[in-house]
Amino acid sequence: MADTPTYDVVIIGGGPGGYNAAIRAGQLGLKAACVEMRGTLGGTCLNVGCMPSKALLHASELFAAAGGEFATLGIEVAPKLNLPQMMKQKADSVGQLTKGIEFLFKKNKVDWIKGAGKIAGPGKVEVTTADGAVTTLAAKNIVIATGSEPTPLPGVTVDQKRIVDSTGALELPEVPGHLVVIGAGIIGLELGSVWRRLGAKVTVVEFLDRITPGMDAETAKTFQRSLAKQGMEFRLGMKVTGAKASKKGVDLTYEPVAGGAAETLEADYVLVAIGRRPFTEHLGLESVGIAADKRGFIPTDHFRTSAEGVWAIGDVILGPMLAHKAEEDGVACIEMIAGKYGHVDYNLVPSVVYTSPEVAWVGQTEEQLKEAGRAYKAGKFPFTANSRAKINHETEGFVKVLADAATDEVLGVHMIGPSVSEMIGEYCVAMAFRAASEDVARTCHPHPTRSEALRQAAMGVEGWTMQA
Ligand code: FAD
Ligand code: NAI
Repeated sequence: MADTPTYDVVIIGGGPGGYNAAIRAGQLGLKAACVEMRGTLGGTCLNVGCMPSKALLHASELFAAAGGEFATLGIEVAPKLNLPQMMKQKADSVGQLTKGIEFLFKKNKVDWIKGAGKIAGPGKVEVTTADGAVTTLAAKNIVIATGSEPTPLPGVTVDQKRIVDSTGALELPEVPGHLVVIGAGIIGLELGSVWRRLGAKVTVVEFLDRITPGMDAETAKTFQRSLAKQGMEFRLGMKVTGAKASKKGVDLTYEPVAGGAAETLEADYVLVAIGRRPFTEHLGLESVGIAADKRGFIPTDHFRTSAEGVWAIGDVILGPMLAHKAEEDGVACIEMIAGKYGHVDYNLVPSVVYTSPEVAWVGQTEEQLKEAGRAYKAGKFPFTANSRAKINHETEGFVKVLADAATDEVLGVHMIGPSVSEMIGEYCVAMAFRAASEDVARTCHPHPTRSEALRQAAMGVEGWTMQA
């Protein structure tokens, strides 16, 4: 073991959890290495997740606006799709972002060890490179940040040609005539929106009788209505029973969950988006006695696994599978390793769906508050009454603030509308400081901005909303 490099911390996985952990470790003066087997850093998020999907959402939104709302504004254009260029600009941005992480690694003296990492007993990580060479790293601490992968659907085999997962749906070679999406969750609705805006007919087949489970039910209803208005079709309460792919397309069969006749949909492409599951393949968990739970998550207590000196963060542990949550985990975990106080408030992890309109929320839903028997008051403000939204012709949606009936503390905020992804952070900060709705209601907001809707909704909790 004389030549074995020794690190304070070896992180397996270079996604938002892993790379943030590695950078924070470097900042705190720990000798850190990050093992990543993909050719680039950034994990799912930068390579095949958040960033490429947002690049296509942005471009396709502009394409749709150029062919639609622009005319309302007095701008007459006839947009022509250049799909290869749309894909190229996406790839270029992704390339710049992944290179940016490499730069930050160098700046913070983090070693990127290229290859597949495997725990080989306490304090030992074996790395196998693409050409089969194996090196061993000695680690005082090991952080597992191996992320997640798409959940497969039995009977619907992803071939990345006609039946794709999210990675394939970010790279389709043409606009499908008909795209069938299985799963009305965030991936299905974001990527379904991309291809709908570019001209595809999109049908979403969902097992439950509602879309986006976990989202406040009233918001989800408004959201579904809006997507339906854009032409997205929904088959809710349906169970997919099989898919037959040919060179030309896919025949998908499904039947009502409640029982009833089976139906068939003919699709050019099928996107399977029924959730993601933790990824721990060939990780050597058994070498340190860690057993994943029955859904594949690594059990942790404040990021500590059952094995001394082995920690886990991000999508591979319980909690929302979101990049910013993985990032928070990574920073807090390293701070704990460094003997500091690391903390994440999971009630304050915001969620966003980057469609048009966008949906954003933080804290408790009305359903959760009712289930917990917590008395609350609600204030709601529609974007139709917001002057900036009105002059911009983007009046769909509302902001809803839920506050404790006795103390007025803000417990949850749910927004659907224009640019709400950029505005939810205001309530995250307010709630981190345990603000009352009145604190927000009495805080001056700039006029005319969409952010005034945030304040007006808070004013609504005590019933003194002023309509524009
Ligand atoms: P990952 O990002 O999955 O990174 C894990 C890394 O570990 C991977 O690069 C993998 O190659 C590597 N790895 C695995 N095993 C090994 C091994 N044995 N050795 C070496 N390396 C290994 N979240 C948001 O917050 N906002 C969004 O807008 C958003 N959009 C998304 C869109 C799509 C299409 C998808 C699929 C996901 C999206 N997500 C989004 C979710 C987000 O990507 C994940 O929550 C986030 O990437 C999780 O970070 P992580 O570090 O835990 O894991
Ligand atoms: P999801 O959990 O958001 O949604 C999956 C949907 O599929 C649910 O509505 C579920 O009821 C449905 N479903 C499950 N099994 C089914 C079946 N057999 N037939 C039909 N429907 C079925 O999962 P999704 O969309 O795959 O995304 C995975 C994760 O990625 C998300 O939970 C989120 O954490 C992350 N993500 C985040 C984004 C963001 O923050 N904007 C964007 C994209 C992904």
